[in-house]
Amino acid sequence: MTGKIGKVKRIGILTGGGDCPGLNAVIRGVSKPAHDNGLSVLGIIDGFEGLVKGKGMELYNKDVSGILASGGTIIGSSNKGDPFHWPEEVGGQIKIVDKSVETMRNFEGWGLDALIAIGGDGTQNIAYKLAQMGMNVVGVPKTIDNDLEATDLTFGHDSAVFVVAEALDRLHTTASSHHRVMVLEAMGRYAGWIALHGGLAGGADIILIPEIPFDWNMVYEKVIQRNMMGKKFSIVCVAEGAKPKDGEMVVKATDAKRTDPIQLGGIAELVAKNITDNTGLETRYTVLGHLQRGGSPTPFDRILATKFGTYAIQLVMKKKFNKMAALKGNEIRAVDIEEAISHQKLVKPTDQAVQAAIAVGVSFGTKEL
Ligand code: F6P
Repeated sequence: MTGKIGKVKRIGILTGGGDCPGLNAVIRGVSKPAHDNGLSVLGIIDGFEGLVKGKGMELYNKDVSGILASGGTIIGSSNKGDPFHWPEEVGGQIKIVDKSVETMRNFEGWGLDALIAIGGDGTQNIAYKLAQMGMNVVGVPKTIDNDLEATDLTFGHDSAVFVVAEALDRLHTTASSHHRVMVLEAMGRYAGWIALHGGLAGGADIILIPEIPFDWNMVYEKVIQRNMMGKKFSIVCVAEGAKPKDGEMVVKATDAKRTDPIQLGGIAELVAKNITDNTGLETRYTVLGHLQRGGSPTPFDRILATKFGTYAIQLVMKKKFNKMAALKGNEIRAVDIEEAISHQKLVKPTDQAVQAAIAVGVSFGTKEL
């Protein structure tokens, strides 16, 4: 059912885009109070793909019990299911078509009064467009990248940062034994939050992020300077989207079926090679990849995800639609979904985390900070 409705009786829930730790905690946070208030919950399978194809599963109490600490999502996710940008294979070719009418039809066919869309900017964008067509939607902000402006934090980010910090701790010991430079590549797409926070927590000597293009010579200078001071190893934490001042981001692959066709990756290998070639120091690189997205959420993310989920179902029951739950300071509040998608949150050089890093001697590969 869309538009004006009586009492909310049945809701749909989906997880869209790349998965992250804490999705199940949100599903649980939404479903338990929903069931307690007599609502039925339909889990839509594989994000918007399930909404387009009409694939769903009833979520009963037994399904959402015991999932707080489990990684991934019990209802599946996809970043290829945008109803407004649906990739259809015609004669071996990918043709992009609009499936929004079918999507609305499935939603109504299931007898849903509202949809809770858990996802990042791509998911919230689609939710906003469906809301324009009359669907009652409430968003929950998810992404390890932490790049949504409307919320102070997205759940999943803390868990990813934990993985980066732990990896840097491990790299420190082996770097120190072998007197090597170690380069770690973190995810984050066009935002440097994971590399910045992970690098700060893991004591990186150099942090390279997309928002602060770096100068190759400054990177070489920093590792040589450390070497001359008797510190025979260096740790570099580089975001997958980082780029040199005179260069571009390193693209690993493209896939026309995705909402964002670009897959980033490969900068750590380039950084490691250039450090070896230009300083003579032995260098190794590690790409953390999807380890940052898998596994159990940190306690912080479990709490945040539970707060988001329980808040989102409250919004639905109060019929406050076209909103997204957002963290503002210590409080969860409702913001318009429109606001949530209007700006990407990127690292500013004035950010306290950047300034704190500089104060403890971290180089961002530039003089201009
Ligand atoms: O947006 C989350 C994220 O993990 C990014 O940090 C990364 O660039 C991308 O998704 C990877 O996507 P995929 O899992 O499709 O390779």
